[in-house]
Amino acid sequence: MDRINKILNLFDVMNNFVGSPEIESLWKKYLENPVDKIVKEQERSSIRSRIKTIQEKFSPIVIKNVGKRGTSQNLAHQLYWQLASIAFHFCGEEPNCNADERNMVDDLRSKKYCELSSDIRTILYKCFGRIFELLNIYSEKCGNNYVHPPASVRHGYSFGDTRKKILRNQRFCPCVPDYILNKMAEVFAESHLDQMLQLYFGSHFCVSNIRPWKYCAIGAVAGGGETGVHLDLLPPGTIKMMMFDGDITVDHGCFETLDGKMNVTYQAIGHHPGFLADSCNVHHRALSPKPGFERDTIEITMMPFLFPEEKIFVEGGCCSGGPLNPFAHDIWMKRIYEPTELLK
Ligand SMILES: [Fe+2]
Repeated sequence: MDRINKILNLFDVMNNFVGSPEIESLWKKYLENPVDKIVKEQERSSIRSRIKTIQEKFSPIVIKNVGKRGTSQNLAHQLYWQLASIAFHFCGEEPNCNADERNMVDDLRSKKYCELSSDIRTILYKCFGRIFELLNIYSEKCGNNYVHPPASVRHGYSFGDTRKKILRNQRFCPCVPDYILNKMAEVFAESHLDQMLQLYFGSHFCVSNIRPWKYCAIGAVAGGGETGVHLDLLPPGTIKMMMFDGDITVDHGCFETLDGKMNVTYQAIGHHPGFLADSCNVHHRALSPKPGFERDTIEITMMPFLFPEEKIFVEGGCCSGGPLNPFAHDIWMKRIYEPTELLK
């Protein structure tokens, strides 16, 4: 059997076993003994269509399982990531990263976080600066009124009650307009972040949620609190990028990572600090800012994704603790608030 038939045969077997644990051992066997990377366009397209067939079978299984306890261990999500890796192996381009970028990815893999270089942060700020402006406009309009998170969050797919995670001293910008999302795609490419992320995931990726918010001191509004040490509970492979506006100090209630003994290992301080974190696997916290030191934050949630021609940026939302389910295609395009509506 030639190599292309071998692979297609593998996909046929997979197709019959989607949703079954047996498929996992099948993948493992394949990964231990991979065949050569496919280069011919005709072969690629056969592989892509087989993968799409499997994806269609996957989607209902994944949708059925989201929102349940154990999402972070969910087998269907793990298999989705493996499928995305295989698709990337055969149909994607080798990520183009220099030594510094590879070091950042190595740090993210080994330490579960990496600080973004100042060059990358400068490029990202071309876009993120606009989001911070929008956040300030929205926050002024919002005043001291507590705003409930959009429905997308309450019906999102982290397990647990996401409403409890919304602190009253955090003011959210519940929408990021399309022109900013387009700009974000540009700065991901210009900063090489897209290449670094492909190297890290071993697959394409999507931005499943963008959450900009202003973190005020406790007492700035009635009620409020701070985010103690925790691990996020998101599907396998999910990571976060965060960036903060201006010169951030400990008084701003900076983001911190901690080791197993609860010693602080990293503090996001300095000028426009920013980092990537495998937030489900590294303990972290962000204490509330001191009065007069409110902190503007952008948090971006990213997940493995099958094919790049589908939308990279799926939703600007409120809470990346409960992002939208990227497998539910009909939800992707729904917008809860339009920015024009928001700024009236
Ligand atoms: Fe977290």
